[in-house]
Amino acid sequence: TDLSKIRNFSIIAHIDHGKSTLADRLIEFCGAIEARDMKAQLLDNMDIERERGITIKAQTVRLNYNAKDGETYQLNLMDTPGHVDFAYEVSRSLAACEGSLLVVDASQGVEAQTLANVYQALDANHEIVPVLNKVDLPAADVDRVKTQIEDVIGLDASDAVEISAKTGLNIEGVLEAIVARLPSPKGDREAPLQALIVDSWYDAYLGVIILVRVFNGELKLGQKVRFMATGATRELDRVGIFTPKKVAVDRLGPGEMGFVTAAIKDIRDTKVGDTITEERRLAEKPLAGFKPSIPVVFCGLFPADAADFEHLRDSLGKLALNDASFQYETESSAALGFGFRCGFLGLLHLEIIQERLEREFDLDLITTAPSVVYKMFMTDGTVLEMHNPADMPDVVKIDHIEEPWIKATIMLPDEYLGGVLALCTERRGIQVDLTYVGGRAMLVYELPLNEVVFDFYDRLKSISRGYASFDYHLEGYREGDLVKMSILVNAEPVDALSMIVHRSQAEYRGRQLCERLKDLIPRHLFKIPIQAAIGAKVIARETIAALRKDVLAKCYGGDISRKRKLLDKQKEGKKRMRQFGEVEIPQSAFIAALKMG
Ligand code: GTP
Repeated sequence: TDLSKIRNFSIIAHIDHGKSTLADRLIEFCGAIEARDMKAQLLDNMDIERERGITIKAQTVRLNYNAKDGETYQLNLMDTPGHVDFAYEVSRSLAACEGSLLVVDASQGVEAQTLANVYQALDANHEIVPVLNKVDLPAADVDRVKTQIEDVIGLDASDAVEISAKTGLNIEGVLEAIVARLPSPKGDREAPLQALIVDSWYDAYLGVIILVRVFNGELKLGQKVRFMATGATRELDRVGIFTPKKVAVDRLGPGEMGFVTAAIKDIRDTKVGDTITEERRLAEKPLAGFKPSIPVVFCGLFPADAADFEHLRDSLGKLALNDASFQYETESSAALGFGFRCGFLGLLHLEIIQERLEREFDLDLITTAPSVVYKMFMTDGTVLEMHNPADMPDVVKIDHIEEPWIKATIMLPDEYLGGVLALCTERRGIQVDLTYVGGRAMLVYELPLNEVVFDFYDRLKSISRGYASFDYHLEGYREGDLVKMSILVNAEPVDALSMIVHRSQAEYRGRQLCERLKDLIPRHLFKIPIQAAIGAKVIARETIAALRKDVLAKCYGGDISRKRKLLDKQKEGKKRMRQFGEVEIPQSAFIAALKMG
């Protein structure tokens, strides 16, 4: 196709502002699918995504649009995830396009993720077309939101496209704006092949599918290609596009997007951001790739039933096939037995993986407290990266510890400002900026990530009654006065409950955890002390009183079936107990204790 007739674009938006609905309408309008074939939200493949309404994997669709100028344009739509945990996936989708539609809910206005995504699009040199969605809602305030876009983002919003993705109002206006206002791609068909790997995933039938954007040259069926980063060579056995159905084509030229397969079994062989070139005529250098996504939050995942360990290993392996940013390795804990230490891009990523394991693989899991990656500067000059509080070296060998800090943007109605400022201060935050735009406050804070992974987001939502939006990026490492807090039950340390905390927070967190455990651990025939300690120093303590009555005593005289039921229930409970010295701790106690908040 003639380059001037191609437009590559992505849709960026805050969660729930209508990105997927608009994508569906664009697909429908261009007649790529019959309306009756439309499932709700075509671009979201996974069930969990559909239920949670979060787009995880970037996807692309080719549309043919007959524009009012009489020409037919090839529009390649890249879907992008909206959530902060997947910022990296956003950046790589953006690198494959020349422009973005910025969707803003006209009844809500600019939110934290709107901003974060716009900055990324500007970084990628995108032309941006603002789209005001949900104008059908009575609460829509087009003028206010236009002013906001101009004041907060600095984009000209005078010719923003006003639409309702839900009713289908003015979808053609969006398509015309794409053609008229977004640039066409550049590229040279005669030059040596350079195609960027935008994404890759494992498909049970086709093996690894590679999503590509061709910059120069052509990708052809049967072509022998080389992956420049790994040096591997392969023959392409499929070249195609998504409409969104997979459709075979014989070639992809400059400016085009599509997919290829080459009998590859392991997605780790197809590094996202790598350049594909032709074996016979190698490109001089690779395209600028992406920064790799690095897990920032770690936690232990243990099977509730030890017999499920192998099943858990298998399941993790399957998930990792489609998620190169998810990491895991075996870990053993005195408290929880054998399990895995897992690395995630953020808390949402953690939750999604955990949920998929429980739902798709029918696993019952115990998750330990999430932890960030600390840098330990040792007295002998070495630096250790620590992913697990259990690995904390002897304190006398540590010179100092550094922890990751983030820069967070929070947008909220100003009546909740007081509460949110207090929360940020409590979490050791440093205020960088505070501005007001149209009745809303925009707050910029530096915060230790360690204070955010606990329950920051939940607290923020409850303080602001759900009206605050939040986005962050990593800033770097800073020294902190951090200590390891251990929890002892009946004088036995419970490794799964130990955590790294700031010294100033240790007592509060210790007390909170001890109080909670006191209610969660059932009484035994003896008194059980529960303590939080830093080294040998106890900083908080609770005691569980001894148990007196036999639980069966109540049933004397009662009918036998009731008694049996009770015994069965106890047996069932037993399976889910963990033994610590003489104390049995139910699995539910771990789960509840680890859910800080
Ligand atoms: P994520 O995938 O979670 O990022 O959300 P999204 O931005 O893709 O939003 P989505 O398209 O799922 O829409 C969110 C909600 O807004 C859905 O309940 C839609 O039905 C609704 N919605 C989308 N567009 C409109 C619109 O124009 N008007 C109204 N009234 N509702 C809309």
